[in-house]
Amino acid sequence: MSDAMTVAALMHRPAVVVRDSITLSQASQTLDEANVGAAAVLDGDGSLVGMVSERDLLHSVGHGHDPHATSVAEVMTRNPVRLTASDSVQKALEIFRERRFRHLPVMDGDHVAGILSIRHVVRVAQIEEVKPAGSAPGLAPRGLEGVAVAETAVGDVRGEEGFFHYRGYNAVELARRCSFEQVWHLLVEGDLPDDDQLAAFTRLTVGARKLPEGIADLLRGIAALPNYAPLAALRSAVSITSAALGSQPTLDLSPSQVRIDCLRMAALVPVLLMRLHRHAQGLQPVDPDPDLGYAAAYLQMLNGERPTEAQARALEQYLILTMDHGFNSSTFTSRVITSTGSDIGSALTGAIGALAGPLHGGAPSRALAMLDAIGSPDRAEEYLRAEIGAGQRLMGFGHRVYKTDDPRSTLLRQVATELGGDQVDFASHVERTALKVLEELKPGRRLYTNVEFYAGVVMNSVGVPRDMFTPTFACSRTVGWTAAIAEQAANNRLIRPSALYVGPPAPRELPDGYGAALHAASVAG
Ligand code: ACO
Repeated sequence: MSDAMTVAALMHRPAVVVRDSITLSQASQTLDEANVGAAAVLDGDGSLVGMVSERDLLHSVGHGHDPHATSVAEVMTRNPVRLTASDSVQKALEIFRERRFRHLPVMDGDHVAGILSIRHVVRVAQIEEVKPAGSAPGLAPRGLEGVAVAETAVGDVRGEEGFFHYRGYNAVELARRCSFEQVWHLLVEGDLPDDDQLAAFTRLTVGARKLPEGIADLLRGIAALPNYAPLAALRSAVSITSAALGSQPTLDLSPSQVRIDCLRMAALVPVLLMRLHRHAQGLQPVDPDPDLGYAAAYLQMLNGERPTEAQARALEQYLILTMDHGFNSSTFTSRVITSTGSDIGSALTGAIGALAGPLHGGAPSRALAMLDAIGSPDRAEEYLRAEIGAGQRLMGFGHRVYKTDDPRSTLLRQVATELGGDQVDFASHVERTALKVLEELKPGRRLYTNVEFYAGVVMNSVGVPRDMFTPTFACSRTVGWTAAIAEQAANNRLIRPSALYVGPPAPRELPDGYGAALHAASVAG
């Protein structure tokens, strides 16, 4: 793409514009007639106040808004990032990449002169960015957003639509209607089980909960280490357990052997975690009850007693919702490690390490900590404004892929509400206030509640201690990781990208005489 090419050369003009007060069905007609994917939204004074796209319409109808009664103002993206006609296409491409918009308004002073679509830009970028073989590698965007690095049939996230699925099935629907074991089978075996398959699979998972020889004592030792932290302890336990199981390089295993080893580790992870937890609390470990499914056994091993059905089901829904989520950082990590032909234990240990970061899996306890710090509803707004003013991020908000409601947060909000309690009402007040404050102080960034906000509330309500939130997430995500590991191993290619070197020009001369003393010392020695 030539540096000189400007937005003016590519934008759609004149801009299609609509008033913010018209209904979704009227907006849809305008888009249809003009055959465009988005329109600029103007207020009564003719000033640009937002953008509305086909996706906004689809999303709002999908969320039950009545298209004849809902106004464009209610669903549009407010305060969009603006371009001017003389901006370079390169600049526009960077905004599209970083901010994940699909359409941008192009301004001529206060007037909307045109609309630039990602499609206009990609057409040009594709033609000119194809490089001859052997030339220097192109630089992918930082954070790799928008770059597909593998093929997968496990599942996908459609961030703009607020939708994610496991092997084609809406994951929220699976969480509403299925058991943990049914969805586990779907992810690792490729399809939902019938009754016989489910019974056989459940028997396998219950049988796989048995600790290998020697591990029980080591777990006691890990839990007694100074600075015990459950996720770090789990990471170590996974590593030694898979070694004790004689975990072999996936490169040397058949696909069915990989699946068996994966199932064993996924069944053992909660057992390891709960033993560590109980040792650390000075309590006797509790063996999993073979009559209980994954979620109920999880709580039984945690607390030493059978949970109520409502508690087990609430946790089960959380666990199903977090089993997998597209090509997230920890899943990517597990695939990179598997791509070297390494063993499943190494891939899972690395994945837990990636999940440990607060930008990925480490936020739910921080979201609750934020609720604690706020203390009471009347302090919410002041606190949240001060946090953002100080450059802090509100934990439980924002997502790399979702630029609309995170569908997991929608179901977890409902699960939390069904469990009830003062904390749920308080959380919901803080959520509403945070969304208002984010929209005002971070306009156009499209920051919404993510899975972590209500995850903390739900886990707290069913008795999972705060320091066990991320480890609990690790347990369910192990199912997704194992599905990814098996998929990578079955059709492997070493993942080995390049980096663009930006240091001092190479080769560099060592300074005169540098290292001579060392050389003399080693000769003398
Ligand atoms: N609070 C306030 N501002 C935010 C937040 C937030 N939670 N998230 C993003 N922003 C702002 C950024 O400051 C930035 O503003 P700027 O344009 O003024 O610089 C803008 O939104 C874009 O931010 P990015 O860093 O580009 O967004 P990215 O896609 O990298 O971030 C992330 C996604 C890491 C999840 C981020 O939203 C965040 O830190 N959230 C809080 C932590 C959290 O909830 N983590 C759990 C995520 S869910 C999961 O992984 C399972």
